[in-house]
Amino acid sequence: MSDPQPLEQRVTNRSLRPDSPTFLAWVTSGWAPRVATSVTRSPAADHAADRRARMLARFDTPVRLVVPAGVPKVRSNDTDYRFRPHAAFTHLTGLGGEQEPDAVLVLGPDPDDATLYLRPPAGRDTSEFFSDTRAGEFWVGPRPTLADMATLTGLRTADLADLPDGLVTEADLLVVPGADAAVSALVDKARGRPGDDTVRDDTVLNDTRVDDAALGEAVSELRLVKDAYEIAEMRRAVAATIAGFEQVVRALPRAVGHARGERVVEGTFLGHARTVGNHVGYETIAAAGDHATVLHWTDDDGPIRPGDLLLLDAGVEMDSLYTADLTRTLPVDGRYTPVQRRVYQAVLDAADAAFAAVRPGVRFREVHGAAMEVLAHRLAEWGLLPVAPEVALELDQQQHRRWMVHGTSHHLGLDVHDCAQARRELYLDGVLEPGMVFTIEPGLYFQPDDLLVPVEYRGIGVRIEDDVLVTADGCENLSAALPREPDAVEAWMASLLAS
Ligand code: GLY
Ligand code: MN
Ligand code: MN
Repeated sequence: MSDPQPLEQRVTNRSLRPDSPTFLAWVTSGWAPRVATSVTRSPAADHAADRRARMLARFDTPVRLVVPAGVPKVRSNDTDYRFRPHAAFTHLTGLGGEQEPDAVLVLGPDPDDATLYLRPPAGRDTSEFFSDTRAGEFWVGPRPTLADMATLTGLRTADLADLPDGLVTEADLLVVPGADAAVSALVDKARGRPGDDTVRDDTVLNDTRVDDAALGEAVSELRLVKDAYEIAEMRRAVAATIAGFEQVVRALPRAVGHARGERVVEGTFLGHARTVGNHVGYETIAAAGDHATVLHWTDDDGPIRPGDLLLLDAGVEMDSLYTADLTRTLPVDGRYTPVQRRVYQAVLDAADAAFAAVRPGVRFREVHGAAMEVLAHRLAEWGLLPVAPEVALELDQQQHRRWMVHGTSHHLGLDVHDCAQARRELYLDGVLEPGMVFTIEPGLYFQPDDLLVPVEYRGIGVRIEDDVLVTADGCENLSAALPREPDAVEAWMASLLAS
């Protein structure tokens, strides 16, 4: 016989929660008045206001923009992943950390028309504060008040329940796609065209008709050039990441010989990131031996053996949610073997050529081109290319890419692969401008079963990744403090292990 209780209601069957009127009266009484908090205006607030004004200025007709933070994602049953807001929401509100699930920024048509809709704290005269496992104070701590959030962000705040009122407008209503399905459905309803995200023919963005997809594109493109606050946060993220790399080197004696030495490395970096920042900016790649030839090796469950190279690709994400993205390939014994050093030097030379190409006015794709020029010639010198390097570099050839199938660079910021929805003509084909931040990360990866390379190269993977700021007349390597020349890497490791 089937149980009449619906499946979705059964998740709390394990607990016997009191709900009698006697208990309700008891649990909702006897609390001291709330102590006033000391929230102050966020240092990001003014920058976020400037970004909101620049966002609205992209549109030639009146628009109201809906920017959801997003909802927690279920990890298993009634347990969620740690919440991380959508990057567009963080960029336009200045809120970081885990703020704020379910919140929605509604902006425009004028920059002063900006309201942050939030779920208010549950009153202690309700059962929510002790019974709601996602939002109740007994379960997740006190929620910020609307007044505190207004102070923090400089935005007008309102109860999330009133969001439908904020969607009533004469302006064209656009929502960031894919951020929050329930909010998208509300917007569709407010537009009176369920499931239809098209807008009036006269709405233009940079002279192009827009729809929700164009807003998704716009929030990405607004982040292509970083402001002073963002650059400062990325400097902090890089410094914190370098400190994490130092901790990993200090942990190497413990990791080498451990059955899951890669996890010792991953755990060391994660512990550091959680201590000094919000989290890691992406899953750490701790790849020893031939795992280093797997580009996104995040299983991190292998041993680290004497003589191995350890490829560590890791980044600390600060509480502001800006992240670094750095890679070093370290000789576990403290010294590169001659063949490891030969491969390492080729990658370093490719990176240096990419750095030399960076200045305003150059196309993003030319940075990659500079690195490929070096690698193709080096692989040809080693006798690995079936054609001359000039031929391999032709677009319909590309034999050298067998050993580096990824790109050399990506924009970096709130998302590790930032600005991903920007148009191709502004990203890959885009022209570099001061304030852009991206990675330079060439590599060479010789799979252990690659019959086209000499045996001595097989199983070697090397990547060197730095974070670069375009300046008025060139670039600055934000991660220059992390040694990258092979001699400097060896000396740095020796000094850390001696201290
Ligand atoms: N850590 C991923 C990347 O370097 O793009
Ligand atoms: Mn990267
Ligand atoms: Mn990386």
